[in-house]
Amino acid sequence: MLDTTIYPKIDLNKYQKETHLKDGTKILLRPMVIEDQEALYEFFKAVPEEEARYLRDDVKSRLLVETWAKNLDYGKTLPVLALKDDTIIADATINRRRSGWKWHLGTVRVFVHNDYRNLGLGKLMVDELAWIAYRLGIEKLILEIPDTNTAAINTFAKAGFHRAAVIPNMVKDRQNMPVDVAVMMRDIKPALDDAYDYDF
Ligand SMILES: CC(C)(COP(=O)(O)OP(=O)(O)OC[C@H]1O[C@@H](n2cnc3c(N)ncnc32)[C@H](O)[C@@H]1OP(=O)(O)O)[C@@H](O)C(=O)NCCC(=O)NCCS
Repeated sequence: MLDTTIYPKIDLNKYQKETHLKDGTKILLRPMVIEDQEALYEFFKAVPEEEARYLRDDVKSRLLVETWAKNLDYGKTLPVLALKDDTIIADATINRRRSGWKWHLGTVRVFVHNDYRNLGLGKLMVDELAWIAYRLGIEKLILEIPDTNTAAINTFAKAGFHRAAVIPNMVKDRQNMPVDVAVMMRDIKPALDDAYDYDF
């Protein structure tokens, strides 16, 4: 179990961080709040159809984004936003179950606005999720993606994830053809409080 006297904690209601992209663009990282719903709707409106297909939810639905905003519960889903001025340029989430055999896992997703890709933002967001996850007592982060998503596989690999499994023919592409799914994982902290040399 998490030894709170050893591991650093995080107050998500106060957490925010200023940083910058490879091109020097200044950005702010912070959890989503209810007031972000319109900006988040605009962010997802710009998602290309091809990419929207592989997202779990219909992110272009105003109702869905409104529901997310009104039902924010960081203990279940923690959405971390990257903002340039007041515009959302990336959204990354950690999903958790607080009981059962997966209580120690966090499922992650990252989405970077098309105009801000290849600037290191995707990796930065994944690294930030790992930094937060460590402080939340999460032991492993996990991700399922189509094995064809090279950008995501490279981004998560750069951020310390390894390919734990490939599930053949798990999902369908636009032509209804089967696509393999890669399961990627990253250890965040050991299950027991053994001395362990993690670089955080
Ligand atoms: C995957 C995604 C988050 C990457 O974001 P990004 O900000 O462009 O990624 P980064 O700039 O941090 O790139 C990280 C590494 O991945 C690699 N990479 C990024 N895009 C790539 C691409 N299209 N093809 C091949 N490699 C790519 C780069 O080599 C980079 O390594 P480098 O630092 O040596 O250059 C972004 O493409 C995206 O939002 N895609 C749609 C949503 C999605 O698929 N999410 C993942 C599953 S939840």
